[in-house]
Amino acid sequence: MRPDLRIILFLFCFISFIDIVNGGRVGAGTKAGGGKTNGQKQGASPPKQSGGTFDVKSYGAKGDGRNDDSKAFTAAWKAACGSSGTVKLVVPKGTFLLGPVKFVGPCKTVDSITVQMQGFLKATSDLSRYGSSDDWIEFGWVEGLTLTGGGTFDGQGAASWPFNKCPSTAKCKLLPTNVKFVQMTNTVVKGLTSLNSKFFHIAVLDCKNFKASGIRISAPGNSPNTDGIHLERNTDVSISQSVIGTGDDCISVGQGNSDISITGVSCGPGHGISVGSLGKYKDEGDVTGLVVKDCTLTGTMNGIRIKTWANSPDTSVASNMTFEDIVMNNVANPIIIDQTYCPYTTCASMAPSRVKLSDIFFKNIRGTSSSPVAVTLECSKGIPCQNVNLHDVHLDLTSGGTVAKSACNYVEAKYSGTQIPPPCTAIVTKS
Ligand SMILES: *[C@@H]1O[C@H](CO)[C@@H](O)[C@H](O)[C@H]1NC(C)=O
Repeated sequence: MRPDLRIILFLFCFISFIDIVNGGRVGAGTKAGGGKTNGQKQGASPPKQSGGTFDVKSYGAKGDGRNDDSKAFTAAWKAACGSSGTVKLVVPKGTFLLGPVKFVGPCKTVDSITVQMQGFLKATSDLSRYGSSDDWIEFGWVEGLTLTGGGTFDGQGAASWPFNKCPSTAKCKLLPTNVKFVQMTNTVVKGLTSLNSKFFHIAVLDCKNFKASGIRISAPGNSPNTDGIHLERNTDVSISQSVIGTGDDCISVGQGNSDISITGVSCGPGHGISVGSLGKYKDEGDVTGLVVKDCTLTGTMNGIRIKTWANSPDTSVASNMTFEDIVMNNVANPIIIDQTYCPYTTCASMAPSRVKLSDIFFKNIRGTSSSPVAVTLECSKGIPCQNVNLHDVHLDLTSGGTVAKSACNYVEAKYSGTQIPPPCTAIVTKS
């Protein structure tokens, strides 16, 4: 069994955050099973058994921003998913108030399904509507889904953020993620907006071949645990041409991911583009094959960060990661590897991290650092980083004046081309 919960702990200066993704399988049965009697206007509905278009309004959705349209959405999805061939689910323009809704398969006789989402979806702020493992909108166990149409998912998070105790205590109830994708194959997500999620905006878990582009994500820079896009245990994911400003990581690449490409993303405010945190649990998967290219970070806490826990209970690997053509505008930690992460007092012994970092390439990273140390390579004393390369790094201090510094430990990085800040010399021990 895979662990159903993933917990990431963050400690940054005086603030500690706890991010938890509920990656657990939720049964295909839905709570809002309105069934076939729910407002169908058969005359207006195209044929049901052989593809066609399913409009939530034909299943009773009002789209007036006041009526709870969850049951209508579920009924329309059930009809679409139970159909065959090429299928379209339409959410027309309008404001749809929704509790948790699950768009789950398998849709056994459907070849491909397009969700044409043009509406403005508003999450109910009544937290009692969300079960213990419910997120808000969930897509799961579907092959060949395209989600498009330019719609908006508004999590209405501001009302819920005061109830998020995770930043201050490990025992906390998780708030719902705005949009979660679980065990999907061959998914395309285009041109969607996520606003003010209660917790994460988008989580992609156990998916294969997932392509997202033109995503817009927005929440205040001080909103708690509002990660933009969190990835875990996926193969073959691309995220491109997207604009993310939020209160936590813009994109976090968690354990078990391979072949991930992140291009053309602008991030800020937020905590940057992160790999990790890795190495908190037993049996975590490796991270292999990551490319982050043509991205811009503005006013963020971190730029590119790789973070692993000290005292990790198990070994794992993160390797073959390239960060290329990245612009940093006034970023506190533009390049940072931190393998000593351990916010708990129980980590007093601080055994070195057992996550092996190797084959890491930073190429053409330029811009400004808002803190004096622009490059931090803090590797594990137990397993020093292997084959870390920096080529053409030019990071000035935002404040001008003196030259930025670099700091490193347990790594012998290879440097070529421009190096501002100048390379540091690290202690490297063989354990
Ligand atoms: C490194 O990752 C890239 C991108 O996923 C992949 O194309 C390449 O084959 C990988 N290289 C090795 C040596 O695994």
